[in-house]
Amino acid sequence: MSNSYDPKTLSRRDFLRTSAAVTATSAIASLGAPAIIEAQTLGNPVNYGFIGSGSQGCAHLKQLSTIKTGRCAVICDIYEPNLKKGVETVGNNPETEPKDYRRILDRKDIEAVFIVTPYHLHVPMILDAMSAGKHVFVEKCMMKTEDQIPQVYAAVKANPKSVLQVGLQRRYSPTYRTAMQMVHSGVLGKVQFIRAQWHRNGSWRRPVPDPRLERQINWRLYKDYSGGLMAELGSHQVDVADWAFQAEPVSVVGVGGIDYWKDGREVYDNVSVTFEYPEGQKFVFTSICTNAHLDFSEVIMGDEGTIEITLGNNNPKASYYPETLAPDSPRRKVKKADTKEQNWWAGATAKSGATRGIPIYTGPTKQDPGFVEKEVDYAKKWLVSMGVLEMERERNPLALEEESFFECIRDGKKPAANVHVGAADSRAVIYANRAMDLNQKVFWPNRPSVPAESQISNKL
Ligand SMILES: NC(=O)c1ccc[n+]([C@@H]2O[C@H](COP(=O)([O-])OP(=O)(O)OC[C@H]3O[C@@H](n4cnc5c(N)ncnc54)[C@H](O)[C@@H]3O)[C@@H](O)[C@H]2O)c1
Repeated sequence: MSNSYDPKTLSRRDFLRTSAAVTATSAIASLGAPAIIEAQTLGNPVNYGFIGSGSQGCAHLKQLSTIKTGRCAVICDIYEPNLKKGVETVGNNPETEPKDYRRILDRKDIEAVFIVTPYHLHVPMILDAMSAGKHVFVEKCMMKTEDQIPQVYAAVKANPKSVLQVGLQRRYSPTYRTAMQMVHSGVLGKVQFIRAQWHRNGSWRRPVPDPRLERQINWRLYKDYSGGLMAELGSHQVDVADWAFQAEPVSVVGVGGIDYWKDGREVYDNVSVTFEYPEGQKFVFTSICTNAHLDFSEVIMGDEGTIEITLGNNNPKASYYPETLAPDSPRRKVKKADTKEQNWWAGATAKSGATRGIPIYTGPTKQDPGFVEKEVDYAKKWLVSMGVLEMERERNPLALEEESFFECIRDGKKPAANVHVGAADSRAVIYANRAMDLNQKVFWPNRPSVPAESQISNKL
Protein backbone atom coordinates (compact mmCIF):
# COMPACT_ATOMS: atom_id res chain seq x y z
CA MET A 1 0.00 0.00 0.00
CA SER A 2 1.45 3.32 -1.00
CA ASN A 3 0.76 6.38 1.05
CA SER A 4 1.97 8.93 -1.48
CA TYR A 5 -0.23 11.74 -2.65
CA ASP A 6 -1.23 11.61 -6.29
CA PRO A 7 -2.55 15.04 -7.34
CA LYS A 8 -4.15 13.57 -10.47
CA THR A 9 -6.48 11.33 -8.59
CA LEU A 10 -6.95 12.73 -5.11
CA SER A 11 -8.44 16.02 -4.10
CA ARG A 12 -8.94 17.94 -0.90
CA ARG A 13 -12.57 16.90 -1.22
CA ASP A 14 -11.47 13.25 -0.95
CA PHE A 15 -9.63 14.10 2.22
CA LEU A 16 -12.69 15.86 3.55
CA ARG A 17 -14.82 12.82 2.75
CA THR A 18 -12.44 10.48 4.50
CA SER A 19 -12.06 12.78 7.43
CA ALA A 20 -15.80 13.23 7.82
CA ALA A 21 -16.22 9.47 8.14
CA VAL A 22 -13.23 9.20 10.41
CA THR A 23 -14.38 12.00 12.69
CA ALA A 24 -17.86 10.53 12.93
CA THR A 25 -16.42 7.22 14.03
CA SER A 26 -13.65 8.33 16.32
CA ALA A 27 -15.76 8.05 19.45
CA ILE A 28 -16.79 4.50 18.49
CA ALA A 29 -13.36 3.59 17.30
CA SER A 30 -11.69 4.34 20.61
CA LEU A 31 -12.99 1.24 22.35
CA GLY A 32 -10.60 1.32 25.24
CA ALA A 33 -10.53 4.42 27.40
CA PRO A 34 -7.60 3.21 29.49
CA ALA A 35 -7.58 6.05 32.00
CA ILE A 36 -11.23 5.52 32.85
CA ILE A 37 -10.96 1.73 32.99
CA GLU A 38 -7.93 1.97 35.23
CA ALA A 39 -9.69 4.29 37.62
CA GLN A 40 -12.61 1.88 37.86
CA THR A 41 -10.74 -1.38 38.26
CA LEU A 42 -7.26 -0.58 39.45
CA GLY A 43 -8.11 -1.42 43.01
CA ASN A 44 -9.83 -4.57 41.86
CA PRO A 45 -7.97 -6.15 38.94
CA VAL A 46 -9.44 -9.26 37.32
CA ASN A 47 -7.60 -12.32 38.66
CA TYR A 48 -7.09 -14.67 35.74
CA GLY A 49 -5.55 -18.00 34.81
CA PHE A 50 -3.81 -18.40 31.48
CA ILE A 51 -3.99 -21.69 29.55
CA GLY A 52 -1.51 -22.24 26.72
CA SER A 53 1.60 -20.05 26.79
CA GLY A 54 2.91 -20.95 23.35
CA SER A 55 3.56 -18.51 20.55
CA GLN A 56 0.27 -16.57 20.62
CA GLY A 57 0.00 -17.09 24.39
CA CYS A 58 3.28 -15.23 24.90
CA ALA A 59 2.17 -12.48 22.48
CA HIS A 60 -0.84 -12.02 24.79
CA LEU A 61 1.18 -12.25 27.99
CA LYS A 62 3.57 -9.57 26.72
CA GLN A 63 0.65 -7.16 26.29
CA LEU A 64 -1.05 -8.35 29.47
CA SER A 65 2.09 -7.53 31.45
CA THR A 66 1.40 -3.86 30.66
CA ILE A 67 -2.28 -3.89 31.67
CA LYS A 68 -3.06 -3.12 35.28
CA THR A 69 -6.74 -4.05 35.19
CA GLY A 70 -5.94 -7.76 35.16
CA ARG A 71 -3.56 -9.92 37.19
CA CYS A 72 -2.10 -13.20 35.98
CA ALA A 73 -2.41 -15.56 38.96
CA VAL A 74 -1.44 -18.83 37.28
CA ILE A 75 -0.26 -20.15 33.92
CA CYS A 76 -0.99 -23.68 32.72
CA ASP A 77 0.93 -25.29 29.86
CA ILE A 78 1.72 -28.97 29.42
CA TYR A 79 4.96 -28.21 27.55
CA GLU A 80 7.57 -27.18 30.09
CA PRO A 81 9.67 -24.85 27.86
CA ASN A 82 6.55 -22.86 26.93
CA LEU A 83 5.33 -22.75 30.54
CA LYS A 84 8.67 -21.25 31.54
CA LYS A 85 8.57 -18.74 28.69
CA GLY A 86 5.06 -17.69 29.67
CA VAL A 87 6.10 -17.02 33.26
CA GLU A 88 9.10 -14.99 32.09
CA THR A 89 6.99 -13.02 29.62
CA VAL A 90 4.26 -11.92 31.99
CA GLY A 91 6.89 -11.13 34.58
CA ASN A 92 4.84 -11.02 37.81
CA ASN A 93 5.89 -14.45 39.05
CA PRO A 94 2.55 -16.28 38.63
CA GLU A 95 1.97 -19.80 39.90
CA THR A 96 2.31 -22.64 37.39
CA GLU A 97 0.18 -25.65 36.51
CA PRO A 98 2.04 -28.10 34.22
CA LYS A 99 -0.56 -30.86 33.97
CA ASP A 100 -4.26 -30.19 34.17
CA TYR A 101 -6.03 -26.90 33.39
CA ARG A 102 -9.05 -28.09 35.40
CA ARG A 103 -7.08 -27.45 38.58
CA ILE A 104 -7.18 -23.76 37.67
CA LEU A 105 -10.92 -23.94 37.12
CA ASP A 106 -11.42 -25.44 40.59
CA ARG A 107 -9.92 -22.35 42.21
CA LYS A 108 -12.42 -19.87 43.62
CA ASP A 109 -9.97 -16.95 43.39
CA ILE A 110 -9.70 -17.26 39.59
CA GLU A 111 -12.38 -15.14 37.92
CA ALA A 112 -11.41 -15.54 34.28
CA VAL A 113 -9.32 -17.68 31.94
CA PHE A 114 -7.55 -17.08 28.68
CA ILE A 115 -7.64 -20.14 26.40
CA VAL A 116 -4.80 -19.94 23.89
CA THR A 117 -4.37 -23.61 23.08
CA PRO A 118 -4.64 -25.52 19.76
CA TYR A 119 -7.98 -25.35 17.90
CA HIS A 120 -9.36 -28.77 18.96
CA LEU A 121 -9.11 -27.83 22.65
CA HIS A 122 -11.01 -24.55 22.48
CA VAL A 123 -14.57 -25.80 22.96
CA PRO A 124 -13.88 -28.51 25.59
CA MET A 125 -12.00 -25.88 27.59
CA ILE A 126 -14.72 -23.22 27.10
CA LEU A 127 -17.40 -25.65 28.32
CA ASP A 128 -15.37 -26.66 31.39
CA ALA A 129 -14.50 -23.05 32.22
CA MET A 130 -18.04 -21.77 31.83
CA SER A 131 -19.52 -24.54 33.91
CA ALA A 132 -17.01 -23.55 36.61
CA GLY A 133 -18.45 -20.01 36.40
CA LYS A 134 -15.39 -18.36 34.82
CA HIS A 135 -15.27 -15.56 32.30
CA VAL A 136 -13.61 -16.81 29.12
CA PHE A 137 -11.38 -15.28 26.50
CA VAL A 138 -10.74 -17.87 23.78
CA GLU A 139 -8.55 -17.53 20.75
CA LYS A 140 -10.00 -17.78 17.26
CA CYS A 141 -11.20 -19.87 15.57
CA MET A 142 -13.69 -20.70 18.33
CA MET A 143 -15.50 -23.89 17.24
CA LYS A 144 -14.02 -26.78 15.25
CA THR A 145 -17.13 -28.81 14.47
CA GLU A 146 -20.68 -27.79 13.67
CA ASP A 147 -22.16 -29.66 16.66
CA GLN A 148 -20.01 -27.55 19.00
CA ILE A 149 -21.90 -24.38 18.03
CA PRO A 150 -25.13 -25.22 19.94
CA GLN A 151 -23.04 -26.59 22.81
CA VAL A 152 -21.35 -23.23 23.30
CA TYR A 153 -24.64 -21.35 22.95
CA ALA A 154 -26.15 -23.59 25.63
CA ALA A 155 -23.22 -22.81 27.95
CA VAL A 156 -23.65 -19.08 27.33
CA LYS A 157 -27.36 -19.33 28.11
CA ALA A 158 -26.71 -21.31 31.28
CA ASN A 159 -24.11 -18.78 32.48
CA PRO A 160 -25.53 -15.36 31.61
CA LYS A 161 -23.10 -13.54 33.89
CA SER A 162 -20.00 -15.01 32.27
CA VAL A 163 -18.30 -12.99 29.56
CA LEU A 164 -17.28 -15.01 26.49
CA GLN A 165 -14.96 -13.16 24.14
CA VAL A 166 -13.22 -14.43 20.99
CA GLY A 167 -9.71 -13.42 19.93
CA LEU A 168 -10.64 -11.69 16.68
CA GLN A 169 -8.54 -8.65 17.46
CA ARG A 170 -9.40 -6.67 14.30
CA ARG A 171 -12.75 -5.95 15.98
CA TYR A 172 -10.81 -3.89 18.56
CA SER A 173 -8.56 -1.92 16.22
CA PRO A 174 -9.59 1.74 15.84
CA THR A 175 -8.35 1.67 12.23
CA TYR A 176 -10.53 -1.34 11.39
CA ARG A 177 -13.48 0.12 13.25
CA THR A 178 -13.12 3.38 11.38
CA ALA A 179 -12.80 1.58 8.04
CA MET A 180 -15.96 -0.38 8.82
CA GLN A 181 -17.81 2.77 9.73
CA MET A 182 -16.78 4.19 6.35
CA VAL A 183 -18.10 1.05 4.63
CA HIS A 184 -21.37 1.08 6.57
CA SER A 185 -21.98 4.78 6.07
CA GLY A 186 -21.63 4.40 2.30
CA VAL A 187 -18.28 6.10 1.67
CA LEU A 188 -17.37 3.24 -0.70
CA GLY A 189 -20.81 3.22 -2.31
CA LYS A 190 -22.27 -0.23 -2.80
CA VAL A 191 -19.82 -2.96 -1.84
CA GLN A 192 -20.31 -6.11 -3.87
CA PHE A 193 -16.84 -7.63 -3.58
CA ILE A 194 -14.14 -8.23 -0.99
CA ARG A 195 -10.87 -9.94 -1.70
CA ALA A 196 -8.47 -11.13 0.97
CA GLN A 197 -5.27 -13.07 0.80
CA TRP A 198 -2.91 -14.54 3.36
CA HIS A 199 0.15 -15.56 1.40
CA ARG A 200 3.38 -16.92 2.78
CA ASN A 201 6.45 -18.62 1.43
CA GLY A 202 7.32 -21.41 3.83
CA SER A 203 6.30 -24.78 5.17
CA TRP A 204 4.43 -23.55 8.26
CA ARG A 205 6.39 -26.24 10.06
CA ARG A 206 8.03 -25.76 13.45
CA PRO A 207 11.29 -27.47 14.50
CA VAL A 208 10.66 -30.45 16.76
CA PRO A 209 13.26 -31.41 19.40
CA ASP A 210 11.95 -35.01 19.65
CA PRO A 211 9.96 -36.83 16.90
CA ARG A 212 7.44 -37.91 19.56
CA LEU A 213 6.44 -34.25 19.88
CA GLU A 214 5.71 -33.82 16.17
CA ARG A 215 1.92 -33.73 16.44
CA GLN A 216 1.96 -31.73 19.65
CA ILE A 217 4.19 -28.98 18.25
CA ASN A 218 3.07 -29.09 14.62
CA TRP A 219 -0.62 -29.50 15.51
CA ARG A 220 -1.55 -27.01 12.77
CA LEU A 221 -0.63 -29.56 10.08
CA TYR A 222 -2.95 -32.36 11.27
CA LYS A 223 -6.72 -32.48 10.90
CA ASP A 224 -7.44 -33.90 14.35
CA TYR A 225 -6.21 -30.64 15.89
CA SER A 226 -6.39 -28.09 13.09
CA GLY A 227 -8.66 -26.51 10.49
CA GLY A 228 -5.63 -25.63 8.35
CA LEU A 229 -5.11 -22.30 6.59
CA MET A 230 -8.84 -21.59 6.63
CA ALA A 231 -9.08 -21.74 10.44
CA GLU A 232 -5.69 -20.33 11.31
CA LEU A 233 -5.60 -17.44 8.85
CA GLY A 234 -8.85 -17.22 6.90
CA SER A 235 -10.93 -16.97 10.07
CA HIS A 236 -9.65 -13.41 10.65
CA GLN A 237 -10.51 -12.35 7.14
CA VAL A 238 -13.91 -14.01 6.79
CA ASP A 239 -14.78 -12.13 9.97
CA VAL A 240 -13.80 -8.89 8.23
CA ALA A 241 -16.13 -9.81 5.35
CA ASP A 242 -18.98 -10.69 7.76
CA TRP A 243 -18.40 -7.37 9.51
CA ALA A 244 -18.34 -5.36 6.28
CA PHE A 245 -21.43 -7.07 4.82
CA GLN A 246 -23.12 -7.24 8.26
CA ALA A 247 -24.22 -10.77 7.47
CA GLU A 248 -23.09 -14.36 7.36
CA PRO A 249 -22.50 -15.97 3.97
CA VAL A 250 -25.19 -18.07 2.31
CA SER A 251 -22.88 -20.44 0.43
CA VAL A 252 -19.27 -21.31 -0.22
CA VAL A 253 -17.29 -23.07 -2.94
CA GLY A 254 -13.61 -23.81 -2.83
CA VAL A 255 -10.64 -25.82 -3.94
CA GLY A 256 -7.78 -26.86 -1.74
CA GLY A 257 -4.80 -29.11 -2.18
CA ILE A 258 -1.58 -30.35 -0.68
CA ASP A 259 0.31 -29.31 -3.75
CA TYR A 260 3.82 -28.34 -2.71
CA TRP A 261 4.60 -29.26 0.88
CA LYS A 262 4.14 -33.02 0.54
CA ASP A 263 5.66 -33.72 3.92
CA GLY A 264 3.00 -35.82 5.63
CA ARG A 265 0.73 -32.91 6.50
CA GLU A 266 -3.01 -33.41 6.32
CA VAL A 267 -4.14 -29.82 5.77
CA TYR A 268 -4.07 -27.95 2.47
CA ASP A 269 -1.15 -25.73 1.55
CA ASN A 270 -3.02 -24.04 -1.32
CA VAL A 271 -6.54 -22.73 -0.74
CA SER A 272 -8.95 -20.70 -2.92
CA VAL A 273 -12.46 -20.11 -1.59
CA THR A 274 -15.41 -17.97 -2.66
CA PHE A 275 -18.21 -17.10 -0.25
CA GLU A 276 -21.52 -15.64 -1.37
CA TYR A 277 -23.47 -13.25 0.89
CA PRO A 278 -27.24 -12.58 1.00
CA GLU A 279 -27.26 -9.77 -1.57
CA GLY A 280 -25.04 -11.62 -3.99
CA GLN A 281 -21.85 -10.05 -2.65
CA LYS A 282 -18.77 -12.21 -3.05
CA PHE A 283 -15.80 -12.67 -0.73
CA VAL A 284 -12.78 -14.35 -2.27
CA PHE A 285 -10.07 -15.72 0.03
CA THR A 286 -6.80 -17.28 -1.03
CA SER A 287 -4.02 -18.66 1.11
CA ILE A 288 -0.79 -20.11 -0.24
CA CYS A 289 2.54 -21.25 1.19
CA THR A 290 4.73 -20.74 -1.88
CA ASN A 291 4.85 -16.97 -2.40
CA ALA A 292 4.83 -14.10 0.07
CA HIS A 293 4.61 -11.24 -2.42
CA LEU A 294 1.08 -10.14 -1.47
CA ASP A 295 1.48 -10.96 2.24
CA PHE A 296 -1.89 -10.44 3.91
CA SER A 297 -4.61 -7.82 3.64
CA GLU A 298 -8.28 -7.32 2.93
CA VAL A 299 -9.47 -5.22 -0.02
CA ILE A 300 -13.04 -3.94 0.27
CA MET A 301 -14.32 -2.75 -3.09
CA GLY A 302 -17.38 -0.57 -3.63
CA ASP A 303 -18.65 1.26 -6.70
CA GLU A 304 -17.35 4.53 -5.23
CA GLY A 305 -14.09 3.46 -3.68
CA THR A 306 -11.85 0.86 -2.12
CA ILE A 307 -10.31 0.31 1.26
CA GLU A 308 -7.21 -1.82 1.54
CA ILE A 309 -6.47 -2.76 5.12
CA THR A 310 -4.09 -5.00 7.00
CA LEU A 311 -3.02 -5.86 10.51
CA GLY A 312 0.60 -6.70 9.68
CA ASN A 313 2.66 -7.06 12.88
CA ASN A 314 -0.42 -6.08 14.85
CA ASN A 315 0.09 -2.58 13.46
CA PRO A 316 -3.06 -1.74 11.47
CA LYS A 317 -2.73 0.23 8.26
CA ALA A 318 -5.44 1.20 5.84
CA SER A 319 -5.76 3.27 2.69
CA TYR A 320 -8.82 4.65 0.94
CA TYR A 321 -8.91 4.86 -2.86
CA PRO A 322 -11.82 6.99 -4.04
CA GLU A 323 -13.50 6.11 -7.31
CA THR A 324 -16.27 7.74 -9.34
CA LEU A 325 -19.59 5.97 -9.70
CA ALA A 326 -19.92 4.77 -13.30
CA PRO A 327 -22.02 7.20 -15.37
CA ASP A 328 -24.36 4.42 -16.41
CA SER A 329 -24.56 2.88 -12.96
CA PRO A 330 -28.14 2.03 -11.99
CA ARG A 331 -27.31 3.72 -8.70
CA ARG A 332 -26.77 7.08 -10.36
CA LYS A 333 -30.27 8.44 -10.08
CA VAL A 334 -29.90 11.62 -12.12
CA LYS A 335 -27.42 11.63 -14.99
CA LYS A 336 -25.54 14.87 -14.93
CA ALA A 337 -25.65 16.99 -18.07
CA ASP A 338 -22.02 17.76 -17.52
CA THR A 339 -20.70 17.45 -21.08
CA LYS A 340 -17.10 17.72 -20.01
CA GLU A 341 -17.39 14.65 -17.86
CA GLN A 342 -19.43 12.86 -20.52
CA ASN A 343 -16.80 13.59 -23.17
CA TRP A 344 -14.24 12.15 -20.83
CA TRP A 345 -16.43 9.15 -20.30
CA ALA A 346 -16.85 8.66 -24.04
CA GLY A 347 -13.24 7.55 -24.27
CA ALA A 348 -13.36 5.05 -21.44
CA THR A 349 -15.69 2.35 -20.25
CA ALA A 350 -15.08 3.23 -16.62
CA LYS A 351 -12.98 5.72 -14.75
CA SER A 352 -10.30 3.91 -12.85
CA GLY A 353 -9.99 4.38 -9.14
CA ALA A 354 -7.27 6.39 -7.52
CA THR A 355 -3.96 4.64 -7.94
CA ARG A 356 -2.64 5.90 -4.64
CA GLY A 357 -4.55 5.86 -1.44
CA ILE A 358 -5.41 8.24 1.32
CA PRO A 359 -4.21 6.80 4.63
CA ILE A 360 -7.00 6.15 7.06
CA TYR A 361 -6.27 6.88 10.64
CA THR A 362 -8.42 7.79 13.49
CA GLY A 363 -7.52 11.42 14.04
CA PRO A 364 -8.94 13.49 16.89
CA THR A 365 -10.84 11.55 19.49
CA LYS A 366 -13.32 14.32 20.29
CA GLN A 367 -16.87 13.80 19.08
CA ASP A 368 -17.13 17.41 17.88
CA PRO A 369 -13.66 18.61 16.99
CA GLY A 370 -13.37 22.34 16.42
CA PHE A 371 -12.29 24.02 13.20
CA VAL A 372 -8.60 24.13 14.13
CA GLU A 373 -8.51 20.47 15.21
CA LYS A 374 -10.17 19.44 11.97
CA GLU A 375 -7.71 21.47 9.92
CA VAL A 376 -4.76 20.01 11.81
CA ASP A 377 -6.19 16.54 11.20
CA TYR A 378 -6.52 17.16 7.44
CA ALA A 379 -3.03 18.60 7.31
CA LYS A 380 -1.66 15.52 9.08
CA LYS A 381 -3.36 13.18 6.63
CA TRP A 382 -2.12 15.23 3.74
CA LEU A 383 1.45 15.09 5.03
CA VAL A 384 1.23 11.36 5.75
CA SER A 385 -0.12 10.77 2.24
CA MET A 386 2.83 12.69 0.78
CA GLY A 387 5.25 10.59 2.82
CA VAL A 388 6.42 13.64 4.80
CA LEU A 389 4.98 12.51 8.14
CA GLU A 390 5.06 9.02 9.66
CA MET A 391 1.69 7.49 10.53
CA GLU A 392 1.32 7.21 14.28
CA ARG A 393 1.40 3.61 15.47
CA GLU A 394 -1.92 2.39 16.82
CA ARG A 395 -1.97 0.57 20.14
CA ASN A 396 -1.57 -3.18 19.73
CA PRO A 397 -5.09 -4.59 19.21
CA LEU A 398 -4.20 -7.56 21.44
CA ALA A 399 -3.83 -5.10 24.31
CA LEU A 400 -7.08 -3.39 23.33
CA GLU A 401 -9.04 -6.65 23.25
CA GLU A 402 -7.57 -7.77 26.59
CA GLU A 403 -8.37 -4.44 28.21
CA SER A 404 -11.89 -4.58 26.80
CA PHE A 405 -12.32 -8.13 28.18
CA PHE A 406 -11.51 -6.92 31.70
CA GLU A 407 -13.82 -3.95 31.23
CA CYS A 408 -16.69 -6.25 30.18
CA ILE A 409 -16.12 -8.38 33.30
CA ARG A 410 -16.15 -5.40 35.66
CA ASP A 411 -18.82 -3.28 33.94
CA GLY A 412 -21.11 -5.96 32.52
CA LYS A 413 -20.59 -4.72 28.95
CA LYS A 414 -20.89 -7.05 25.95
CA PRO A 415 -17.73 -7.87 24.01
CA ALA A 416 -17.40 -6.67 20.41
CA ALA A 417 -16.12 -10.14 19.43
CA ASN A 418 -18.96 -12.00 21.12
CA VAL A 419 -20.33 -15.53 20.76
CA HIS A 420 -22.36 -14.62 17.64
CA VAL A 421 -19.32 -13.17 15.89
CA GLY A 422 -17.25 -16.21 16.89
CA ALA A 423 -19.92 -18.71 15.87
CA ALA A 424 -20.48 -17.07 12.47
CA ASP A 425 -16.74 -17.05 11.91
CA SER A 426 -16.43 -20.72 12.91
CA ARG A 427 -19.34 -21.77 10.70
CA ALA A 428 -17.74 -20.12 7.68
CA VAL A 429 -14.43 -21.88 8.37
CA ILE A 430 -16.08 -25.27 8.91
CA TYR A 431 -18.20 -24.96 5.74
CA ALA A 432 -15.31 -23.70 3.61
CA ASN A 433 -13.22 -26.70 4.64
CA ARG A 434 -16.17 -28.96 3.91
CA ALA A 435 -16.64 -27.41 0.45
CA MET A 436 -12.98 -28.06 -0.34
CA ASP A 437 -12.97 -31.58 1.11
CA LEU A 438 -16.05 -32.60 -0.88
CA ASN A 439 -15.44 -30.40 -3.90
CA GLN A 440 -19.07 -29.27 -3.60
CA LYS A 441 -20.93 -26.07 -2.95
CA VAL A 442 -22.01 -25.87 0.70
CA PHE A 443 -25.06 -23.85 1.73
CA TRP A 444 -25.79 -22.29 5.12
CA PRO A 445 -28.47 -24.17 7.10
CA ASN A 446 -31.59 -22.39 5.88
CA ARG A 447 -30.91 -23.85 2.43
CA PRO A 448 -30.23 -27.47 1.44
CA SER A 449 -26.70 -28.28 2.49
CA VAL A 450 -24.16 -31.02 2.07
CA PRO A 451 -24.60 -33.34 5.07
CA ALA A 452 -22.07 -32.85 7.84
CA GLU A 453 -21.52 -36.59 8.16
CA SER A 454 -19.34 -37.01 5.11
CA GLN A 455 -16.57 -39.56 5.05
CA ILE A 456 -14.00 -36.91 4.36
CA SER A 457 -15.03 -34.15 6.70
CA ASN A 458 -16.32 -35.93 9.78
CA LYS A 459 -12.90 -35.56 11.36
CA LEU A 460 -13.05 -31.80 11.08
N1 LIG B 1 -5.51 -13.98 17.05
C1 LIG B 1 -4.38 -14.21 16.42
O1 LIG B 1 -3.87 -13.36 15.68
C2 LIG B 1 -3.68 -15.52 16.57
C3 LIG B 1 -2.36 -15.66 16.13
C4 LIG B 1 -1.75 -16.89 16.33
C5 LIG B 1 -2.43 -17.93 16.93
N2 LIG B 1 -3.71 -17.76 17.33
C6 LIG B 1 -4.47 -18.85 17.95
O2 LIG B 1 -3.91 -19.13 19.23
C7 LIG B 1 -4.01 -20.53 19.51
C8 LIG B 1 -2.63 -21.06 19.86
O3 LIG B 1 -1.76 -20.89 18.75
P1 LIG B 1 -0.17 -20.87 18.97
O4 LIG B 1 0.44 -20.47 17.69
O5 LIG B 1 0.16 -20.09 20.17
O6 LIG B 1 0.10 -22.39 19.23
P2 LIG B 1 1.30 -22.99 20.08
O7 LIG B 1 1.42 -24.41 19.71
O8 LIG B 1 2.51 -22.12 19.92
O9 LIG B 1 0.80 -22.84 21.58
C9 LIG B 1 -0.21 -23.64 22.13
C10 LIG B 1 0.19 -23.94 23.54
O10 LIG B 1 -0.85 -24.69 24.17
C11 LIG B 1 -0.23 -25.67 24.98
N3 LIG B 1 -1.17 -26.75 25.26
C12 LIG B 1 -1.55 -27.77 24.44
N4 LIG B 1 -2.41 -28.57 25.07
C13 LIG B 1 -2.59 -28.07 26.32
C14 LIG B 1 -3.35 -28.46 27.45
N5 LIG B 1 -4.14 -29.54 27.44
N6 LIG B 1 -3.28 -27.70 28.56
C15 LIG B 1 -2.49 -26.59 28.61
N7 LIG B 1 -1.73 -26.19 27.57
C16 LIG B 1 -1.79 -26.91 26.44
C17 LIG B 1 0.97 -26.11 24.17
O11 LIG B 1 1.91 -26.78 24.95
C18 LIG B 1 1.45 -24.79 23.62
O12 LIG B 1 2.39 -24.18 24.47
C19 LIG B 1 -4.61 -21.16 18.27
O13 LIG B 1 -5.98 -21.32 18.44
C20 LIG B 1 -4.36 -20.15 17.18
O14 LIG B 1 -5.31 -20.19 16.13
C21 LIG B 1 -4.35 -16.57 17.18
